[in-house]
Amino acid sequence: TTLKFDTSKLAQFVGEQELAMMQPMVTVADEMLRKGTGAGSAYTDWLHLPTEYDKDEFARIQAAAKKIQSDSKVLVVIGIGGSYLGARAAIDFLNEYFNNYLPDEQRDFPQVLFAGNSIAPAYLNSLIKVIGDRDFSVNVISKSGTTTEPAIAFRVFKQMLEEKYGVEGARERIYATTDAKRGALKTLADTEGYEEFVVPDGVGGRFSVLTAVGLLPIATAGGDIEQLMAGAAAGEAEYADADLAKNPAYQYAAYRNILYRKGYTTELLINYDPTLVQFGEWWKQLQGESEGKDGKGIFPATGNFSTDLHSFGQYIQDGRRNLFETLFRVTEPVTDVVIPEMDADDGLGYLQGEKMSYVNRTASEGTLLAHVDGGVPNMIVELDKQNEFALGQAIYFFEVAVAIAGYLNGINPFDQPGVEAYKRNMFGLLGKPGYEELTAELKARL
Ligand code: PA5
Repeated sequence: TTLKFDTSKLAQFVGEQELAMMQPMVTVADEMLRKGTGAGSAYTDWLHLPTEYDKDEFARIQAAAKKIQSDSKVLVVIGIGGSYLGARAAIDFLNEYFNNYLPDEQRDFPQVLFAGNSIAPAYLNSLIKVIGDRDFSVNVISKSGTTTEPAIAFRVFKQMLEEKYGVEGARERIYATTDAKRGALKTLADTEGYEEFVVPDGVGGRFSVLTAVGLLPIATAGGDIEQLMAGAAAGEAEYADADLAKNPAYQYAAYRNILYRKGYTTELLINYDPTLVQFGEWWKQLQGESEGKDGKGIFPATGNFSTDLHSFGQYIQDGRRNLFETLFRVTEPVTDVVIPEMDADDGLGYLQGEKMSYVNRTASEGTLLAHVDGGVPNMIVELDKQNEFALGQAIYFFEVAVAIAGYLNGINPFDQPGVEAYKRNMFGLLGKPGYEELTAELKARL
């Protein structure tokens, strides 16, 4: 199978009977999810997205990606949170790490660059510099259509496009992915006549990578989105059984719950490859925004190894024992390097002629055993290949697992009420109409 879930190194932390004891609760969580009786059930359409997506829109996405590939050297993807993390993760996962640094003539597809995920002016100016005088298009993505960060960035790029190509020309280069009916971006896109793609009602931002939100940027960057959906569909079929013994995604959810109750309150998703770092960022949002509420939840973090073994590796090995790790890795390396022979002695003689992938994998095994010995429970999610199909299956695995985990922990995994607090304060301090009272109150506190 494409995805293997390995819990063999959990033995000293969790007894077999403990997993079995979770079955009745998992059965209930499964019913809540699949019969729609759980909290937030209006946002569970991602569950059947891999098999029930809008085929006409899918074809329009493929056509738009082709058009962008033919008329642009750069696609600027404007979005924040669930409106960009999935696309970014997938594009890094599927491409060479330094792909974006290659000159245009050495790249088969447009550069995809991200904007509107911060409010840092220097970032935006630097991005504009990188585009230079090259042809570009913009995909502005916002489900609500009212998020401040992407809205600011979009104003800037809309103006740039209109100055460069004229209002008509700009219209041809702006793609808006937003709600089917509501929101400022929807109204703007209708008025201006942009090509529009839909974030379906029943799919929340962090579960939207397999909609136009993720698919248009991924396809533009050369990703095979049919294979991505096929992999997710394999996940949909494979992770549907309420029987824990037969469902690795449910096992992952149940083990996380068991560990959480034992005091392991922080989970690190571990990778050994920079092309997997952004997958960790997507995962952090999926976990953190789904589970962290009502004073509960596992704190999601990442470890980018072996890099971070030389930074906070000490803490993992030896610090407070509230951590567990999930190693996310791929069996087959995309490419390899043979460690060169050398006459001079640098202490590496015993490795010459070996593949770097072998050393990297061995590092992961040595680390895993050391961390287990140090009291850090470890699970492994392993993909056979670093391709679209495997990625689709992995996305679905983590999505369905977090839904079950949320219900096991007695929370609504599909809302995000906590995201509003900072927005309210920001609006208050910026003097947004309607927030006058808050403005005075917050200014007095600063
Ligand atoms: O998952 C979520 O709901 C959030 O992270 C949103 O995706 C994020 O806040 C961006 O929202 P929007 O797409 O409405 O601009």
